[in-house]
Amino acid sequence: MQYNNDIDNKTKITRVLERLEQQSRLERSGKENIANEDMMLAITEDTGKLLNILITSMNANNVLEIGTSVGYSTLWFALAMSQNENGGINDTKKRIVTIDNDPLKIMRAQKNFKDAGVLEMVTMIEGDALDILARLFKDYNANVNGRCDLFDFIFFDADKGNLTEYFDMSLPLLKKGGMIVTDNILFPEEYRLTMSKFVTYVRNNESVMSVTVPIGNGEEITIKTK
Ligand SMILES: C[S@@+](CC[C@H](N)C(=O)[O-])C[C@H]1O[C@@H](n2cnc3c(N)ncnc32)[C@H](O)[C@@H]1O
Repeated sequence: MQYNNDIDNKTKITRVLERLEQQSRLERSGKENIANEDMMLAITEDTGKLLNILITSMNANNVLEIGTSVGYSTLWFALAMSQNENGGINDTKKRIVTIDNDPLKIMRAQKNFKDAGVLEMVTMIEGDALDILARLFKDYNANVNGRCDLFDFIFFDADKGNLTEYFDMSLPLLKKGGMIVTDNILFPEEYRLTMSKFVTYVRNNESVMSVTVPIGNGEEITIKTK
């Protein structure tokens, strides 16, 4: 019974992913005039697959995303987390927290999560990522001796100017052996300088090991080793 439910859930997620992929392809082709505020600015399908493989292979329970947009990348995480052996999508241990500061994007994401049947698994937080990270950190410190799960996997895909702050604030929230993945390391080119400074900053931190993978727009994959 559980097995059939999981198949249904996976099908639902996959259907929404396919619909969003079509939209994303149209957006990238420039063939249609899409207003700036309506752009998804989503990761590529290849990047989605890479993130899915990483999350599946580490059997992540707690994922944090900075920059939800309409939820395309979040759904790749949800797909990975729904293919575990302990109850699939209904496994209450599996949680995604995703942050965005744009109320319209949040509304669209909420609808996509509903269509994909993952509303229970995903907690959307509206607000500025710096404020939310500070709050998560405060909550974590207040709960160190209580129940506050650290994240296994954190994805950075919002504004690029605050990346080093996101990194410093996220590292204490990441389990040892956990991963931070950062999008847009190689593309678009206008971010190159900012991203290369970020990469240098990360690689100078002795508690991580980090490498750029040239998939999609370039992903920095950083593992917390200490
Ligand atoms: C590139 S899009 C995210 C795409 C999404 N990860 C995907 O692949 O489907 C970046 C998102 O970050 C949000 N954002 C930008 N600056 C932010 C900030 N300071 N705090 C929270 N969200 C922010 C934007 O509203 C936008 O929806």
